[in-house]
Amino acid sequence: MEKFAVLGCGVVGSGVVELFEKNKALIEKRCGKSLEMAYILDLRDFPDRPYGNKVVKDINVILNDPDVKVVAECMGGLKPAFTFVKSCLEAGKSVATSNKELVAAKGDILLKTAKEHDCNFFFEASVGGAIPIIRPLHKCLAANDFSAIAGILNGTTNFILNKMIKENMDFSTALALAQEKGYAEKDPTADVEGHDACRKICILSSLAFGKHVYPESVHTKGIREVELKDVELCNQLGYTIKLIARVQRLENGKILPTVMPMAVEEDNLLSQVNGVYNAVMVRGDGISKAMFYGRGAGKFPTASAVLGDMIEEVQLEHTIPSQTWENVNSTDFIEDFSVFSAKRYFRTTSADISALSEVFGELQERTVSTEEETVFITENALNFTEVENAVKALAKKGINVLAEYPILVS
Ligand code: HSE
Repeated sequence: MEKFAVLGCGVVGSGVVELFEKNKALIEKRCGKSLEMAYILDLRDFPDRPYGNKVVKDINVILNDPDVKVVAECMGGLKPAFTFVKSCLEAGKSVATSNKELVAAKGDILLKTAKEHDCNFFFEASVGGAIPIIRPLHKCLAANDFSAIAGILNGTTNFILNKMIKENMDFSTALALAQEKGYAEKDPTADVEGHDACRKICILSSLAFGKHVYPESVHTKGIREVELKDVELCNQLGYTIKLIARVQRLENGKILPTVMPMAVEEDNLLSQVNGVYNAVMVRGDGISKAMFYGRGAGKFPTASAVLGDMIEEVQLEHTIPSQTWENVNSTDFIEDFSVFSAKRYFRTTSADISALSEVFGELQERTVSTEEETVFITENALNFTEVENAVKALAKKGINVLAEYPILVS
């Protein structure tokens, strides 16, 4: 009999306990072992739930039980999650976490601790909810040299954008609905401002390129400023605005991770990813392109990924070598955002095409004009400095830029 423990009994933690109890027989059959959900660590009591008698308040109860070999961490945040997870690993107990903040900030330390104590620190649930992406990256796709990863990695913002587009729902109502459904973070600012997607692209970048990428190194912009008007105008031009988390390896060998709203062409599969669904597109020299798709948030989709990790951990005798990355002090391998270059969607005050062409050169044919405003896509890719210069040049002609989005090229 192997014992499990779950740290945190919120949306995900309770999902782990309930899904485990529901599918216990088939999970045990697949593991070839008897398993017991022995402890649930939480400050609250749950007298009305069937697992109420498993609740403990002191992490030491779990740390001191030698029969607990595997722990799920679903508390979220860094404190006290980091200390608790590190202590579990130091006690030789493998940990499966859904906590992307923890992995993005402390993954290098925790992977090293797991290795030193011959156990495992797994985090499949930290990126893309139910979608298997961590294990495919370091196992199934291990033969590839990766060149880019791009994805929709936040269910809440994708759900909000979708409600705005399809149902004309305002931002706050859509956010409240996402919170009610258990998609949003405790503090939904992390979703809306792009920090959650940033943590997730940090994790994927670290795993794909082998060096820890910290959130501070990623240019991050959320969806708060996205206007329904641009969403609709973009649609008319054949694009969908999505919050895209992306990392590219550039010709100079450096990587460029970014999180920002981008206009995605309608024939790109990412433009078809709706509601709480997430998708991750991976480019590698062997596979060319592979895409992973599924529910990116929610109680049972995330619990499914945590349990998948726990089930593997029960079966492993040692630390696996493939799922790791280097702890580095420098950010030399990360390119500065100022070089980021892309074709752009612009919405300006009303302007004639010849004035715009003087600044941008040729424009793509798809252009929408009203008496008050003009909307167009540039033919050429522009970097940050070129956009700034274009905005100044337009201002001299009495034209103001009202909105601008880079175009995602898959
Ligand atoms: N708040 C996150 C999201 C939860 O909306 O994607 C899953 O990580």
